[in-house]
Amino acid sequence: MSHEIIQNRIKNMAHQINTDFEGTTPLILPVLNGAFPFAAELAKHLTISCEFEFVKISSYKGEISAKHQPFIMLGVDVATVENKDVIIVEDIVDTGRTMEILVNYLKHRNPKSIKIACLFHKHQLSPEMQLDYVGFQIPDDFIVGYGLDYANLGRNLPDVYKLTP
Ligand code: IMP
Ligand code: MG
Repeated sequence: MSHEIIQNRIKNMAHQINTDFEGTTPLILPVLNGAFPFAAELAKHLTISCEFEFVKISSYKGEISAKHQPFIMLGVDVATVENKDVIIVEDIVDTGRTMEILVNYLKHRNPKSIKIACLFHKHQLSPEMQLDYVGFQIPDDFIVGYGLDYANLGRNLPDVYKLTP
């Protein structure tokens, strides 16, 4: 998938967020490492006032399947999140476990609301996951590029590729 297609979709997602959050100052919360190109592109098109903080969650440890429980490696304190309209910015939702853990973690910090924006969603694996802004619904393939990695490589690729075994 080309970066032109991706960027165009992100621009539309930003317009939607601008409309939905008009008059508010949400806290944009990209999930490191994978969400940095998505978050940067989204930021270019956000015209609302907004804050940025980052969280880092470990999950795959360079493997294709999730063997380890995701854990928060870099978190946010209560003062950062309390009473804020939080928008989580994530590269890809696969089983939904990472988002479940992050949402639960944030709820303990008393946000006003939590929304999730993800660029890719493997919908067959987590159809019941409540996602507010989804870039692309994709099949259960492993993809790299545009922030997404395999063994921490490939994040710098401008386009997204399907990894073939
Ligand atoms: P989940 O917890 O199963 O939803 O997994 C989400 C996390 O796994 C994402 O934040 C990614 O870091 C990683 N992940 C899932 N699918 C892919 C993929 O196709 N390519 C690269 N990383 C992936
Ligand atoms: Mg990730």
